Amino acid sequence: MALKKSMLGFSTDSWIGSQEKASGKKLGHLFYLQGAKNSWKKTLSQVLEDWQIKEIAESPSELAFYSTQSGPVWAIMAKHPKGAKSHSGLMDRSEYTAARDLISLNIPKVLSMGLDQLQIHFEGAKNSEIMGGLVGLEMAAYRFNDCFKETKRKLPQLKLFKGGKAYKDKSIQRATHLGVGTNLARHLVNLPANELNPKTYAEFLRTIFSGQKSFKVEVWDGNRLKKENMGLHWAVGKAAEEGPCMVHLKYRPPGSSSKKPTAFVGKGITYDTGGLDLKPAQYMRNMKKDMGGSAAVAGLAYYVLKEQIKQPMDFYFAIAENAVAGNAFRPGDILTSRKGTRVEIHNTDAEGRLVLADVLDVAVTKKAKDAPGLVVDVATLTGAIKATLGSGVGGLFSNSDKDADKLLKSAQQSGDRLWRIPLIPDYKSQLNSTPADMVNCGDGFGGAVTAALFLEHFVGSLPWIHLDIYAWKDKPGGGCMEPGGSGQGVQSLSFFVDSNLK
Ligand code: BES
Ligand code: ZN
Ligand code: ZN
Repeated sequence: MALKKSMLGFSTDSWIGSQEKASGKKLGHLFYLQGAKNSWKKTLSQVLEDWQIKEIAESPSELAFYSTQSGPVWAIMAKHPKGAKSHSGLMDRSEYTAARDLISLNIPKVLSMGLDQLQIHFEGAKNSEIMGGLVGLEMAAYRFNDCFKETKRKLPQLKLFKGGKAYKDKSIQRATHLGVGTNLARHLVNLPANELNPKTYAEFLRTIFSGQKSFKVEVWDGNRLKKENMGLHWAVGKAAEEGPCMVHLKYRPPGSSSKKPTAFVGKGITYDTGGLDLKPAQYMRNMKKDMGGSAAVAGLAYYVLKEQIKQPMDFYFAIAENAVAGNAFRPGDILTSRKGTRVEIHNTDAEGRLVLADVLDVAVTKKAKDAPGLVVDVATLTGAIKATLGSGVGGLFSNSDKDADKLLKSAQQSGDRLWRIPLIPDYKSQLNSTPADMVNCGDGFGGAVTAALFLEHFVGSLPWIHLDIYAWKDKPGGGCMEPGGSGQGVQSLSFFVDSNLK
């Protein structure tokens, strides 16, 4: 398929979803083994010797590899330890996660062998494990640089089996949508800021979501932001060559219930120099990823569109580039937000909360049938969250215990982990300002908490969840076999939507 320029190298073609026939005969086998050993011995005996099967059955390890006359054979025996759980089980590896991560770990080697066909046998596996395994395949096959090559990389044809029979369940489709949605978010994060700027980002979203059943795409350019009195969003983005914008995808599927819509809002800073409070070189280096929160929202929207989830939803993208120029906003400036709050800029590098504040206000002030019942924002908001939870677990803040618990559960099940951090009311005083209503950040400790408290002011009392994420992987893991954009947030939110909004 020829790619549209506006797709910026991304293709929604999927490996696990494609039915292309293999032309050659170089075969490989991958076994995912669970349940009673006797039941999978028969399947294994098609390609393995008795001693190899015995070795697998007795192995304490989760992975084995054999080079056989029938081609390479990978065997995966995920161990699911039982017993006392700590952290209410929230940090435990789920079955979905085990299958996703163990299968994807083998894929770089699979792909280096130039196979024509890979047969995957799920033995004694649950649906959640098959889902995880398939998403892992899709994620592990993604290579950013290959997206820009004329001739596409040849991937082996996949043939799926469960209990010895061809596997044709509709969960293949669901896994395809989730895998492609996650890769979409990774791709957006991987795109450098000279290719993904506020203008090309809005075009990309238009290309994917326009003309689709149930989606209405609206883009507010800089002039519209000014007209809407979005003084914070405008100020952050105005110094860049491509001005700021907001993209809104309104999703109202046919037959959707009369339930209130859920609104998702993503931070989309296509590059964060820090502004006049310029970041030092080593901290600026990776700041093309500062739109990772909005990328997660895009990946989720893709999943929702493809799965035609039956609940109304809104997806907002708060897009801007935080650049340095003569007309850049300054420390000490006082800006008026759409809500009317006057914000004193203490540091121009705390820009994410500014664009989010105005866009959250757009989301929460929708009226009547469009008034949201829950608002979820996703953002690479603070370095402080990375210092606390590392790059593998996102911070969750919420004023609603019920909604927070649901999303935490989805995060655990999807292996896209989150941990709740309190909104500590005493810290609000760090945001006091003398010449204005609030400062955009303080100098004190607890930077991720005060950032969340700043956002809370603009949401008011509506049920709300804020995710502070890192969006990036320095090393392979969690399904991603290529370092770079991690797609953080897509799987937890997709699971959340599946189990709570279907
Ligand atoms: N985009 C950064 C946060 C960030 C930094 C995410 C490193 C991931 C890795 C954000 O805009 C920022 O610079 N935040 C400042 C806030 C501070 C000035 C109050 C931070 O966290 O240092
Ligand atoms: Zn910043
Ligand atoms: Zn930022």
